[in-house]
Amino acid sequence: MSISMQIPENGRDIKEIFEEMDSFKENDFKWKKGKVFCLTYPLDENHHEFLKDAYGKYISENFLNPMAFKSLKKMEREVVRMSCSLMNGDDNSVGTMTSGGTESILMAVKAARDLAKKTKPWILKPELVAPESAHVAFEKACKYFGLKYIPVKLDEDYRANIKAMKKAVGVNTVLMMGSAPQYPQGVIDPIEELAAFAKKKKIPFHVDACVGGFMLPWLEKAGEKIPLWDFRVDGVTSISADLHKYGFAAKGASVVLYKSMKYMKHQFFITTEWSGGIYASPNLPGTRPGGAIAAAWGTLNKVGQDGYIEQAKKTIGVAKEFRKRINEIPELEVLGDPPATLLAFKSTDKNLSILAIADQMIEKGWWFDRQQTPASIHMTVMPNHSETLEEFISELKEVIEHVKAHPELAKTGDAAMYGMMAKIPARGLVKKSVEKVMESMWGPTGELPDFEKGIGSDEGAPVWMKLADKYGPQAMDALEKVDNVKDKIKKEVKKLNPF
Ligand SMILES: Cc1ncc(COP(=O)(O)O)c(C=O)c1O
Repeated sequence: MSISMQIPENGRDIKEIFEEMDSFKENDFKWKKGKVFCLTYPLDENHHEFLKDAYGKYISENFLNPMAFKSLKKMEREVVRMSCSLMNGDDNSVGTMTSGGTESILMAVKAARDLAKKTKPWILKPELVAPESAHVAFEKACKYFGLKYIPVKLDEDYRANIKAMKKAVGVNTVLMMGSAPQYPQGVIDPIEELAAFAKKKKIPFHVDACVGGFMLPWLEKAGEKIPLWDFRVDGVTSISADLHKYGFAAKGASVVLYKSMKYMKHQFFITTEWSGGIYASPNLPGTRPGGAIAAAWGTLNKVGQDGYIEQAKKTIGVAKEFRKRINEIPELEVLGDPPATLLAFKSTDKNLSILAIADQMIEKGWWFDRQQTPASIHMTVMPNHSETLEEFISELKEVIEHVKAHPELAKTGDAAMYGMMAKIPARGLVKKSVEKVMESMWGPTGELPDFEKGIGSDEGAPVWMKLADKYGPQAMDALEKVDNVKDKIKKEVKKLNPF
């Protein structure tokens, strides 16, 4: 693909621009066709057109100043109130819209840190205790806002280990959290037990319902057995929930909700000293795009409770069918007991690489996240996957046979790369390689990485990559042995200290 380095000297024809944009999409994954299991949350073509129109109505309005755009204030207010009521907040519950899950989480962490600054001034090194499966945005928030991130080992079923979480809480803990559900395996953490403990310790408790917030309530209303996770749980003080996921809104819309203003007020930023005047903002951005707010408000009104319940019923039906059909394949196993619409599966056969299966499926036009610990394939199920389920299962079975017949596939291509990345014992080396990828992706040439050639394949190639290039599969075998030894050590350590 050729890259334009200059703004064109003369403005170009609109038709030509749109044709070019469409052509850029040729190599993208076909998310509208039910072949993508992450990143996108499509409903249907009619809704897609609706989102464009709703967003378009407010494309230039800026919610930086609510006094100037009272319409956006009204819409944000209604979105927040509707979300509070869906998640069973009482009349004191409050919240703001944000640009997405990550911003909602950043804000909840900042608010908890600043609340502690006020109420527990002796805490100099604030800490956040989270199950290992928590979304990376929590670690990011800690890095940005100067907290110590304490990830805690999970139970065998991938849910937060209650005892280990309690043990990790100390005098410096300013926030505990759990997910409903977490992303990697789609299971729901034991929110009631964790929040009760947080309350006893007078620590705020955040529920990350970014992916579940606009799905779990509808599943519950549709009669599914969903454990309690929202403001009905005593001790839950804040919730993040994304409208741009199962809320079917346009990208750039989430809510962060609080039990009361006592917690939320620490999210705000106010300065009185700027030469531009007094400046106050409720969350991270300055300029806030009106389109994202309008499209979210429009979507809640267009889909309505009946529409959400209908979509939830359809999606859980498809998710259950995926789960059953994948578990029927002897070489595969769904991880844990995911009660909602996300799941992940691994290979049960040591000689069958799930990463090689992922490579082959992606080659056939499917797209999903490849996960580590354990190596697995993630699936966020959408209503339109009902149309592709049979094709998926049949191609999955074909791919399994192919990978069995070609075990060398585990040691080539992306499978080798992801496999090795997960197994390198010195994580610093992996981090360095990823840094190189980022420097190249966002450097002056903006190149995407070519895993075939190896990450950072210039003279700065990482040592482990050079070893892999030189010794190929033997390097993988050696790492696998290191991995086995690591597992044995871990088991022995666990016997001595179960938490
Ligand atoms: C559980 C969970 N939390 C947070 C996020 C982050 O959301 P975003 O990508 O909108 O920042 C995600 C994204 O998938 C998620 O699944």
